[in-house]
Amino acid sequence: MKNKLLAIESSCDETAASIYDMQKGVLSNVYFSQIDIHSKFGGVVPELASRSHLEKINFIVEQALLNANTKLNEIDAVAVTNKPGLPGSLLIGLSFAKAIAWSLNKKIIGVNHLEGHIFSSCIENKVPFPHLCLTASGGHTAMYLVEDFGKFTLLGQTLDDAAGEAFDKIAKLMNLPYPGGPVIEKLAEQVNFEDFFHYPRLSHKNLDFSFSGIKTAVLYDLVNRGAYNLQEKKFLKDNDEILKQKVASSLLVAVADIFIDRIKLALKDKPEIKALTFVGGVACNKYIKNRFSEFAKSKNLQFFYPSPQYCTDNAAMIAFVGNYKLQKNQIDNLELDIY
Ligand code: KG4
Ligand code: ZN
Repeated sequence: MKNKLLAIESSCDETAASIYDMQKGVLSNVYFSQIDIHSKFGGVVPELASRSHLEKINFIVEQALLNANTKLNEIDAVAVTNKPGLPGSLLIGLSFAKAIAWSLNKKIIGVNHLEGHIFSSCIENKVPFPHLCLTASGGHTAMYLVEDFGKFTLLGQTLDDAAGEAFDKIAKLMNLPYPGGPVIEKLAEQVNFEDFFHYPRLSHKNLDFSFSGIKTAVLYDLVNRGAYNLQEKKFLKDNDEILKQKVASSLLVAVADIFIDRIKLALKDKPEIKALTFVGGVACNKYIKNRFSEFAKSKNLQFFYPSPQYCTDNAAMIAFVGNYKLQKNQIDNLELDIY
């Protein structure tokens, strides 16, 4: 009996492949990040993303097989991200997966990228159900009630920008490189994550988020400090490290506060929740993780997060979901499409 799975992820700006063994777990997790291609534009350019996927996918899949000491004919099924994402990018991964499935007569399993993130904390940890999952990246920010593998309910999501997107856009305002999140964390660290400028924390009665307000608040605060020219759309304090550190620090504290406020509200009528998980690219952030860890302790909850390689977009999380779908016989066919 074969017991290995190949997973492919190409929904945005990472070309990724992973080999997963149903008994041993992740055997390889390989990716090519397009950050250098998109950084000069301050965000992902869809056309460039799909061209790069096309160039890299063959090599990345070969590398994943090589690292896992596995031959293509040893795999039992191909799991592939088919939604949501950039259409051109998704199509490259799906077409590649279909070609393998068709030519070698393998099973094909479509995986929702968000489901991949939601269960990414389960790759390395035994996370109890039900738990609350906060997923935050450059494309999505949402909270889910997770009751079992494959069983989750959306509780709230961002009404405008994703949290990572807010970091990226605010970084761009200050001429900092893309992606903004890691740069903002490094700057904030220099001033010990203090709340210098106290940006507004908009509060809703439901569990949705909003991050475009904080971006505007930072912009106008910079204008008022004489650090940004609105007419010319120009940052005027490139050499003022202290200002950048203070903005970054105040921003991180505000975002962590907003997250914790929403989580508190979500937990209010759900005493059955056993754990909190934090996933997606923003879950690389040590400060926010520390804040969550303290909060979880105060509520007697367990707290889990994936290691950084499983936070940002990766194929191991797609393999993990593909594997439990395979066990449940939730197989697709070559009609599988992108969404
Ligand atoms: O999951 P991901 O790789 O791609 C998407 O699906 O969007 O997440 C990328 C996002 C970017 O917006 C980036 O700024 C943010 O995650 N990010 C961080 C950190 N590392 C990456 N945000 C805050 N702190 C970090 N250390
Ligand atoms: Zn993602």
